[in-house]
Amino acid sequence: MDVFHTIAQFRDARRAFPGSLGLVPTMGFLHEGHLALVRRAKAENAVVAVSIFVNPTQFGPGEDLAGYPRDLDRDLTLLETEGVDLVLNPPPEEVYPRGFSSSIDTGPVSEPLEGGHRPGHFKGVATVVAKLFNIVQPDRAYFGQKDGQQVMVIKRMATDLDFPLEVVVVPTVREPDGLAMSSRNIYLGEPERRAATCLSRALSKARDRWDAGEREANVLRRQVIDVIEKEALAQIDYVSVADAESLDELSGLASRSIMVSMAVHIGKARLIDNAVLTPPAGRSNP
Ligand code: PAJ
Repeated sequence: MDVFHTIAQFRDARRAFPGSLGLVPTMGFLHEGHLALVRRAKAENAVVAVSIFVNPTQFGPGEDLAGYPRDLDRDLTLLETEGVDLVLNPPPEEVYPRGFSSSIDTGPVSEPLEGGHRPGHFKGVATVVAKLFNIVQPDRAYFGQKDGQQVMVIKRMATDLDFPLEVVVVPTVREPDGLAMSSRNIYLGEPERRAATCLSRALSKARDRWDAGEREANVLRRQVIDVIEKEALAQIDYVSVADAESLDELSGLASRSIMVSMAVHIGKARLIDNAVLTPPAGRSNP
């Protein structure tokens, strides 16, 4: 496995690898969620590249950029074990040299939910991912459903800007008790860790109601809020029931797939999670 800290050296090395290449963009502090993406990339491509870059432009003022967990040695050991070929780990000044001023705005899909609560976040994400696509030139790029809106932003960008690659979405990897794996789970102390299961519990409840035929968005949203509000340590940032294609917030009956999503503060951590609920195939909605 070769590790590069400059874009030029990475590009030189990448040219020597023929065959399809899968890219897994990450901010490091890797866990089983990241490794699921790596394994999928490994299964589907001749070559796998992973980027590790804590991207400053997707953090807002007062967010956790400085304290974001990092452990490069451990990350590299994990990636080596998975059989990764190339790692790109540039310093911020390599990605954003003096004078850098371009950015990508993906429009309405980046405005609600995370975009509404973290202004500029998706501009930072889309811009760095576009740069990674240009630097690495992958045939496929792997992203987790854990960040559901991020997937939609990146798919929109790849389509609109004609990136010649496939965006592959990998299901959310969870702890045995349902908590979605996240680098930020390290912020949770013992009582917070227990409270944090309220996100996945709330999603399961919404899924049960959906499977039982409930299509009223307000009812589903209320279910989710009720589960989270029972946790004294949880503070809701938002709970959304939105059209899964447009992310338009729903208030009446859902006639198509929906994305139920939320952001919840638990102690120092701001956690997000989501579920996409789809009407059963071959049957019109009740
Ligand atoms: P990061 O949070 O490190 O996540 C990297 C990738 O791993 C993302 O595609 C994310 O959705 C996926 N991922 C994280 N937790 C997961 C889980 N529990 N199950 C499945 N996939 C999971 O997302 C970012 O970094 C950044 O925004 C990035 C795309 C790298 C741009 O800077």
